[in-house]
Amino acid sequence: MKIISIANQKGGCGKTTTAINLASSLSLNGKKVLLFDLDPQAHASLGLNIDGQNSIYNVISRLTQRKLKLEEIIQRVENNFDIIPSNILVGTLEQELADEIGRELKLTEVMSSLKNQYDYMLIDCPPSLGILTVNAIRASDALIIPVETSRFSMQGVDHLMDVVHLIKDRLNHDVHCRILITMFDSRLRHSFAMLSTMKQRFSDILLDTIIHVNVKLKESAVVGKTVNFYDKYCRGSKDYYSLAKELICLEKKTAPADAPAVEKDKKEERKAQPQFTNLSSRMQELVINESRNLFKMKRFVLKAPQASSVYITGSFNDWALDENYRLQDNGGVWEIDIPLKPGLYKYQFVVDGVWREDPVNTQKERNSFGDINSLVEVEHE
Ligand SMILES: Nc1ncnc2c1ncn2[C@@H]1O[C@H](COP(=O)(O)OP(=O)(O)OP(=O)(O)O)[C@@H](O)[C@H]1O
Ligand SMILES: [Mg+2]
Repeated sequence: MKIISIANQKGGCGKTTTAINLASSLSLNGKKVLLFDLDPQAHASLGLNIDGQNSIYNVISRLTQRKLKLEEIIQRVENNFDIIPSNILVGTLEQELADEIGRELKLTEVMSSLKNQYDYMLIDCPPSLGILTVNAIRASDALIIPVETSRFSMQGVDHLMDVVHLIKDRLNHDVHCRILITMFDSRLRHSFAMLSTMKQRFSDILLDTIIHVNVKLKESAVVGKTVNFYDKYCRGSKDYYSLAKELICLEKKTAPADAPAVEKDKKEERKAQPQFTNLSSRMQELVINESRNLFKMKRFVLKAPQASSVYITGSFNDWALDENYRLQDNGGVWEIDIPLKPGLYKYQFVVDGVWREDPVNTQKERNSFGDINSLVEVEHE
């Protein structure tokens, strides 16, 4: 079982939204998932319409009058998706555990009974760096830190990293940290500035998937549903589905059994790349020119006189949204030239934050989210 904490002491950065919808998307990918609501605010339980009468308090507290086993408090949310609910009493564990020996290991101890019953456990942490969050990180293999790009919310990340280092030094436990950009608003220049700062500072631990602002994520929580069930074709649904896929891929890459194969792949990759070390400079130039020739400039044009921003995103850039793919406005006709290697590519325009197909391209296909990707083929010479 892979245990992932979702934590950031900064409030409102998308921890609970990520916990709920990532859990649901992992389960749609055939994984058995347990969501652990560790926040006394119980937003994950409320956001899924789950009764929080019993919680981890009944399992850990020595003061509770209704002592229960962890298995007894687990509830079913959807097929392959269970939850350990929370309630206000969970907050009292912070004080109760404060004087106990081995207080940082309480969750690790009680969770050992669940070991092989799930593929993933996601822990939704409270917005603080107290005993509960430390317990969650100590019990986890990985930590996802949601960072909201529409506001300056980066300060908390360093502090959380300090805690992770302390847990490594003092408790001899290493967790893989990953940063997830949340509530990304592609209509705001500020979001892109923030994204580029994040890439510079945390390039090695930044997840590729970006969670965009999407009102359906808010609405689904209000009616007590996961976004996949509320509106499976919306942007929020797509984003969390991509995140689940990315995490599953990352896990395959880091799984020990795969290690030799990955190493082999890297060797093959190195072989495939031009090797310059033994070549004269004239030869190097030729090789570089040769690889430049592999690319062909492709022009994309969209007529949108009312738009204030147009981006293109597609299989050529892993569906990323960034400034390199912003189209130039020439009097309402938006244009961009993109170097592409021969192959077939899927793409969409993003006009003022709204995804749409290329209206003048007849080559298109319906994608698994129910909307249309335009297609472009770059042919070999
Ligand atoms: N991508 C998104 N687009 C639009 N609204 C969002 C998005 N992500 C989260 N929200 C909304 O922002 C608010 C805060 O999100 P959420 O509860 O997930 O944050 P949190 O980090 O768990 O907060 P807390 O620190 O209080 O636990 C909620 O109303 C949620 O519906
Ligand atoms: Mg929360």
